[in-house]
Amino acid sequence: MIKPGKPSIFIVMLLSLPCGMVLAGPVQPPLPDGKALAEACFSCHGEGGRGGGRIPALAGQDMTGLQQKMLALRSPSPGSTIMPRLMRGYDTDEIAALADYFAGVSP
Ligand code: HEC
Repeated sequence: MIKPGKPSIFIVMLLSLPCGMVLAGPVQPPLPDGKALAEACFSCHGEGGRGGGRIPALAGQDMTGLQQKMLALRSPSPGSTIMPRLMRGYDTDEIAALADYFAGVSP
């Protein structure tokens, strides 16, 4: 119950919301969950992307480099195998989230 004479804290919070939004600029949607997406890669690239036999390790690679490799892998090139087919299933936000996750794993 809102008692007369006592401004509700909720009303104060509601009134301050628009100011915060203006200061923060356009709201960026959060990136998808990179770890959850990355689990689809562990079967070939090893747990945490630390490498699996002849398949390259992803863990600890530079974030921008990984992102560029993944974007490039969307178009098949002569030595490529499975990756082009896989990478075409991910949008640029998902690729950014994956690159961010693998860059943060210690090799
Ligand atoms: C079925 C096995 C398989 C799965 C699953 C897989 N990869 Fe790969 N990946 C490969 C192979 C094999 C290569 C080597 C290049 C090639 O053959 O196309 C590779 C290469 C890569 C490379 C290039 C690495 C480098 O340093 O040159 C990246 C980046 C990559 N994969 C990311 C991913 C991500 C992200 C996922 C999960 C969304 C994933 N891969 C899932 C097999 C797989």
